[in-house]
Amino acid sequence: MRIGVLTAGGDCPGLNAVIRSVVHRAVTNFGDEVIGFEDGYSGLLDGRYRALDLNAVSGILARGGTILGSSRLERDRFRAACDNAKELIEKSGFDALIPIGGEGTLTAARMLTDAGVPVVGVPKTIDNDISATDRTFGFDTAVGVATEAMDRLKTTAESHQRVMVVEVMGRHAGWIALESGMAAGAHGICLPERPFDPADLVKMVEERFARGKKFAVVCVAEGAHPADGTMDYGKGAIDQFGHERFQGIGTALAHELERRLGKEAKPVILGHVQRGGVPTAYDRVLATRFGWHAVEAAHRGEFGHMTALRGTDVRMVPLAEAVTELKTVPEWRMAEAESVF
Ligand code: F6P
Repeated sequence: MRIGVLTAGGDCPGLNAVIRSVVHRAVTNFGDEVIGFEDGYSGLLDGRYRALDLNAVSGILARGGTILGSSRLERDRFRAACDNAKELIEKSGFDALIPIGGEGTLTAARMLTDAGVPVVGVPKTIDNDISATDRTFGFDTAVGVATEAMDRLKTTAESHQRVMVVEVMGRHAGWIALESGMAAGAHGICLPERPFDPADLVKMVEERFARGKKFAVVCVAEGAHPADGTMDYGKGAIDQFGHERFQGIGTALAHELERRLGKEAKPVILGHVQRGGVPTAYDRVLATRFGWHAVEAAHRGEFGHMTALRGTDVRMVPLAEAVTELKTVPEWRMAEAESVF
């Protein structure tokens, strides 16, 4: 079998572990040939690829990013390519395509499936917002980075009696904010799923200071919004990939808290630091398991499916299931976090 693999969308720690696993399983167990398309779907459309053998994937298990490069989807070009799917397959001659990516990549994978391309998807995103899988790799690493950052910020905040507003990633789903906020013992967590009132945060900080605690840490997801009428904060325009351009909620909220409290409040934007660097052991293992199962599924001819973690098992689920709804933080998970603020 000739298997094509590509990584698309925002990068994420663990991508290289999937590529390595696909190559090992395919080459060693099945005697397959593996090719890697460069820079996501654009490499597929342009016919830019290179052979991936065991040497090509040696030493990449713990490396962040993706050796294949990544890019966001050019939707119009992609649609046109789907209309000529046969030509697309013939150009590089693959028998199975394994795209590794988030919601956009998997939606595209589904379109390819509908066009007759033999696809097995592998989900990835640090946001952990793909409903068909209990976890995506990259999330554990991002939560670890954000947690460590907040642990560090606490000691300096305490020394200077400051409020730290830490902005983490998460457009529509606040999983990183929820779990890193809980792990670091943040005193307030703001999620995209639930508009917040800055007055509640002001009250929390004042109560802490009244109890003799001289600092506070608030963890806010980049996609969080204040409730209508509670604070000046505009909704951003939509970019070419259909994403809202955020206005910087971390900075806006820090300024608002400083103004209302009369205490120093500093914004800390963690940004892409959360996505870079070495994946955790958990993410390496999950990514390796996904790669293994994707190759097995390709050999069973289970196309139009993707790998998913269900409990502790890796299962194959229809791509259609993966892209119908986003997995957001349910209210009860927030209630658990709030009990320890
Ligand atoms: O989807 C993953 C993600 O890291 C989001 O958390 C974040 O909003 C976005 O990608 C950032 O995208 P980019 O790297 O294009 O700025």
